Parts: sequence; C-alpha cells; structure tokens
Amino acid sequence: MKVVSFSCKIYDRQQLCRILPPEWESEYVEPTLDKHTVVYADGADVITAFVNDRLDLEILQILAEYGVKMIALRCAGFNNVDLVAAHDLGIKVARVPAYSPYAVAEHTVGLMLALNRKLYRAYNRVREGNFSLNGMLGFDFYGKTIGIVGAGKIGRLVGKMLKAFGCEVLVYDPYLCKECPDLGLQQVSLEEIYQRSDVISLHCPLTEETNHLVNAESIAKMKKGVMLINTGRGALMDTEALIEGLKSGRIGYLGMDVYEKEGALFFEDHSCEIIQDDAFERLLTFHNVLITGHQAYFTEEALRHIAETTRDNIQALIDGAPLENEIEVC
Ligand code: NAI
Repeated sequence: MKVVSFSCKIYDRQQLCRILPPEWESEYVEPTLDKHTVVYADGADVITAFVNDRLDLEILQILAEYGVKMIALRCAGFNNVDLVAAHDLGIKVARVPAYSPYAVAEHTVGLMLALNRKLYRAYNRVREGNFSLNGMLGFDFYGKTIGIVGAGKIGRLVGKMLKAFGCEVLVYDPYLCKECPDLGLQQVSLEEIYQRSDVISLHCPLTEETNHLVNAESIAKMKKGVMLINTGRGALMDTEALIEGLKSGRIGYLGMDVYEKEGALFFEDHSCEIIQDDAFERLLTFHNVLITGHQAYFTEEALRHIAETTRDNIQALIDGAPLENEIEVC
C-alpha cells in the first residue's frame, strides 16, 4: 500500500508518521496538490489531501491514470473535490467527518470575544505603554441575539456555548434540528436570522446554494453594526460586499478564519513578499476586522483524530470493509 499525502506540513507529518502503519509505504509532500505537484502521486494507491488541494476533473484524470484508488481527505469539507468526476473515474473519496467540533466552536467564540473587547488592539497598546481605553468600548454578550447558519455539530456547539453567556440563540438550517429545542436553540428562517441577530456566525457547508450567502443583498437586511463571523468556508461570503458593508458601517465587526481566495495565501509564510490580493489587503486595513489563517481546527486533539480516521479509512479500503466515511455522489 503506497500512500502519498499532499499539503503535509511538519505537524501533519509528525502525526501521520506516528499513526500510519509502518508497513505502508508513506510519502509526505509539503506543497498543495495541483497540476505541477500531482506527479508525486504516480504509483500511489491512495492519496491524502487537505482543504486547498485541487481535486478537479483535470487532476482526477491524472490520478486515475496513475492508478489511485482512493482520496482520503484529511478534513471534513469536500467542496474542493469534483465528486461526480471521481465517481465516474472509479476513485473513492472518504473524509474525516468530525475531528474536533470543539476546536472550531471554541475558536469561533474566541473570535467573537476578541473582536468585541478588541483584545488584539489591547495586546499592542499595552506593550507600547498605551493604557488609554479610548476606542476599546465593548458590549455585554449577555442578552444579545446570536444567529447561527448551519445547525450541525459545530453550529450547535457554538449555540450551546453562547447560551451559557445568556444569549438568545437562533439557528437556521434547511433540515429539522432535532437536538436544538433541548439545547434552547430556536430554529427560524434565514430572513429572521438576518433581521434579528446582533451576531451572525456561519457553520454550513459550501455548496452552490450557500456560495456568497453573505452578499450585498443579505448584508442590507442585517442590523446596523452586526458582527459577522465565518469559520465555515471562505466563499460563503462575498469579499467585495464585506468591504462595502464595513465602509458603510452596516457591518460593525468581522471575524474570519477562512477566506474565499485563501488557497494562494494560507498555510504559508508570505511575510517577505508583496501580497497581490488587493481585496484581502483592504480587509486588513479595518480596525474592526480580525482574520486568522484557517486555524480554527488546529488543536492537538483534532490533528490526532484526523490522522487516526485517515488511517481507518485507508484500512477499510484494504480490508474491503464498508467505507463508512465515504462521500457518496448525490
Ligand atoms: P455538519 O455537517 O455537522 O453541519 C453542517 C450543517 O449545515 C448541517 O446541519 C446541514 O444541514 C447544514 N446546512 C446544509 N446546507 C445548508 C444551508 N443551505 N444553509 C444552512 N445550513 C445548511 O458540519 P460541521 O462539522 O458542523 O462543520 C460545518 C462546516 O465547518 C464544514 O462544512 C466546514 O466547511 C467548516 N469547518 C471549518 C474548519 C476550520 O478549521 N475553519 C474545520 C472543520 C469544519
């Protein structure tokens, strides 16, 4: 069994080396998978891949020619995979459905609190001997209304945490959320989320339907000064509309762990380069924007679960056992 892992940073490699069976021939490739790096997959039975690896028709055709039988995603989201093409080419696709919803939910609440109380500004001010409180005024989360889009594992956890703060929590999900009433989460329409929420947090998958869910039209329906948080996927938000919303003051706070063009930026050190993405650079100029580089999942527990589930997915393929984490084409 030859397994080639793409987008493998040192921390991924350490976990995978520890957990993948030594009898497998394992190779670790640091760059993301694209048409230049796909050649590393030649001779592999399985490749493992992460959020920004390119798995479109062109790449999948090459993988099929190389004899790759399965793509074991080391993540939950699969918006970067052309599932129909993979199915037609006979390549199975498996994922890690839940490696640590706690990690992402805790980071989400962290972004909310840091933005509200301007912790990132306080850190710099105090280090420079500036103890002025001007511009640091926050609000109590107690009593505020939070709107959660996507009442899955992460969305429900975020809701539960914010209930503990004394917030009213609304959720929108196209499917009935059976667990929500017991958690005190009120299932409402998307329109109601926009109209009533002081804070809106996105936890739905990126699909054709949710692409640019937050756009000029939806932002116009939100409360003035709304806090928007996105730890889901970058393209859930239209960046140009965010910039306009921030300039007009309709958006009062923006916290993002994901960005629609993050593939060209995140997970790498670009500190000695001139960043060419003007929209991203514009976002960084706002004092009320806090961006982290897709690190919400990044805890020890999550990395361990990712490696273990990836191993189990590959082992199921070897054993011919049911592949419980396979992503089926709808
Ligand atoms: P999940 O599958 O448990 O929940 C997703 C929920 O979204 C489901 O309840 C589903 O019914 C709902 N949904 C589907 N279409 C929707 C729509 N049009 N509008 C509103 N809701 C819709 O997934 P989980 O584990 O809660 O993860 C949520 C998302 O978080 C993932 O899709 C992934 O994109 C993102 N994520 C981000 C990470 C990070 O490090 N920033 C790490 C892990 C996941």
